[in-house]
Amino acid sequence: MASEGYRIRPFRVEDLERVMEINFECLPENYSPSFYLDLHKRFPETFLVAELDGMIQGYVMSRIERGFSKFHVLKPTRLCHIVSIAVREPYRRRGIGTELLRSAMRNGREVYEAEECYLEVRVTNEPAIRLYQKLGFVRVKRNVAYYMDGEDAWVYAIPLKEIP
Ligand SMILES: CC(C)(COP(=O)(O)OP(=O)(O)OC[C@H]1O[C@@H](n2cnc3c(N)ncnc32)[C@H](O)[C@@H]1OP(=O)(O)O)[C@@H](O)C(=O)NCCC(=O)NCCS
Repeated sequence: MASEGYRIRPFRVEDLERVMEINFECLPENYSPSFYLDLHKRFPETFLVAELDGMIQGYVMSRIERGFSKFHVLKPTRLCHIVSIAVREPYRRRGIGTELLRSAMRNGREVYEAEECYLEVRVTNEPAIRLYQKLGFVRVKRNVAYYMDGEDAWVYAIPLKEIP
């Protein structure tokens, strides 16, 4: 898919080093190589990268889980859990984060039959919160001291039938 000069495509194993670099640059939550490769092996269609200027400048990775609906009490639901998303600073505010998320959510629904998507975000991460709200995510829960440094997370969720 191409839009305004960038391309969203599936992650490939040879992208690992670059994606890890972007993760280190953009987020305090970092992972081992096997963590990325395991997500890619199990859920390749929801691990996507954005290419621009000949390089990967952003990524999103997700896990498909069986759990309970974030909207209906005790309704067993297949969930697309966004594990990590980042776009390098010089490439932000061009719609890349939106398109990475939309594409991962569409694939989560169409390939893995997920019914809802959810994610955790630091309560102070205003840019990310605005992005999720703009896409229609709603705040469903506060997870106290969710992060290693003690910060709380908001859990945001959206029914995937709402994603065009
Ligand atoms: C969150 C992040 C992925 C957004 O990526 P992006 O490519 O800049 O997002 P988009 O361009 O699609 O932004 C979509 C909308 O989100 C909101 N938004 C994004 N960044 C914002 C900012 N810095 N301030 C206010 N609103 C912002 C705006 O409503 C924006 O729409 P607009 O540009 O038309 O106003 C990026 O800021 C990032 O990588 N941050 C560091 C890593 C991170 O926090 N990841 C999320 C962890 S939960």
